[in-house]
Amino acid sequence: PAPTPGFPLPSTHSQQAYDPASDFTSKWTRADAKQIMAQSDSTVAPGVNSMSPDVTMPEIPEDFPTMNDDVWVWDTWSLTDENANQISYKGWDVIFSLVADRDAGYGFDQRHWNARIGYFFRKTNADPATDKWNYGGHVFADGASIGNTEWSGSTRLMQGNHVNVFYTATTFYDVAERNAGGGGIAPDAAIAKALGNIHADQNGVTFDGFTHTKLLEPDGEMYQNKAQNPGFAFRDPYTFEDPAHPGKTYMVFEGNTGGTRGEYECKAEDLGYQPGDPNAENLNEVNSSGAYYQTANVGLAVADNKDLTKWSFLPPILSANCVNDQTERPQIFIQNEGGKNKYYLFTISHQFTYAAGMRGPDGVYGFAGDGIRSDYQPMNNSGLALASPTDLNLPSESPERPTPSQNGRQFQAYSHYVQPGGLVQSFIDNVNGVRGGSLSPTVKINFRDGISQVDRTFGQNGLGPFGYLPTNLNVGGAGHY
Ligand code: FRU
Repeated sequence: PAPTPGFPLPSTHSQQAYDPASDFTSKWTRADAKQIMAQSDSTVAPGVNSMSPDVTMPEIPEDFPTMNDDVWVWDTWSLTDENANQISYKGWDVIFSLVADRDAGYGFDQRHWNARIGYFFRKTNADPATDKWNYGGHVFADGASIGNTEWSGSTRLMQGNHVNVFYTATTFYDVAERNAGGGGIAPDAAIAKALGNIHADQNGVTFDGFTHTKLLEPDGEMYQNKAQNPGFAFRDPYTFEDPAHPGKTYMVFEGNTGGTRGEYECKAEDLGYQPGDPNAENLNEVNSSGAYYQTANVGLAVADNKDLTKWSFLPPILSANCVNDQTERPQIFIQNEGGKNKYYLFTISHQFTYAAGMRGPDGVYGFAGDGIRSDYQPMNNSGLALASPTDLNLPSESPERPTPSQNGRQFQAYSHYVQPGGLVQSFIDNVNGVRGGSLSPTVKINFRDGISQVDRTFGQNGLGPFGYLPTNLNVGGAGHY
């Protein structure tokens, strides 16, 4: 595409694959992320969505249905296998969500401090418009998990009826931190798993027999730890197998670049400008702006045993140093394109975690390459794949404190997760002041060669059924009990 006057050119990325164990880390550069503003319309009336319809999630109606009256629901994932197939187990679709009690006396913004993993089930091929998800309760017994708060992860069906629930074991030490939502003693974070059993009968799905194992804590070298930054991120494990490396199991997760907060220095490669670009930023100026505080990465680890109880860190596959501080809930989505596997790394991020001088929306970002470790090409040249309607000409805001002058749907949805067929599910946060805590209408993106487009022929003007997470693979029969 032709460059936008006044904006720099994006970085060049080969998409070339590297050995997953090698130390090549792809960079989502400032030059790349600057394309978000280059592609945004600077002339819209204040508060109107300024982004291309190709990357804008259609508007969620204010009168959205509540998925469950007892619990708020946010980050959600399906039961999957090692190839990201979504599994129907004995005739039931099963999903896992972070949940928090709706009537426990705290608000939706306090959910992180009170998070548990819950699950829902419904008949495979149910009518998503009329058949509600049945709430099964918490997956783990009270007090059973490692840590005192359960954050996001993924669930894999293993041999027989065994399941591995990978999760973030977060431990808060401070009642003030928990109740006030921040400002107290920083929590610990570990990546853990629980091996247990799934059961299904004509009444639905249950789980039991979980054994919890701590898998990884940040090493402080490749992945920042709490001593280096109380606000570190180390969470959201997702495991998978790579057809290019049979017999190995990998995990991607959210991390930050190792080192003491504030000591990172932005490098020319983090900026990624083309030589002689008249619209390039000056490295010293970027460093003086404090952009070095934002050091997100997407981590990679490899399992050392078949039980998936022992893991080793590998270098991060993506860094966003001096661009953004959080690349959350990463996932690897493999798509056959022209007889060849294209690897898409998807990750969610916020507007408030961008570095100084950068601006982008809450949404899901994507990167395309020829392997799990590759010189990833940011989707649509910028990285942005799908976002909530936002006027990017106005300053960034946080979901806790939106202002009325912005688009009332800038935080309509978050935690977008890309499923087979390009279906993207997410949770509703704030629609024109109406708080969510329930699953969004699923939308569909079509993508190929790193270019994506919201499919507005899907559902009603692009909005599919609420909480539509269909399965694509049956295990254990069709469930005729
Ligand atoms: C994304 C997220 C995850 C984390 C969870 C905590 O919405 O921030 O990174 O696991 O929410 O509630």
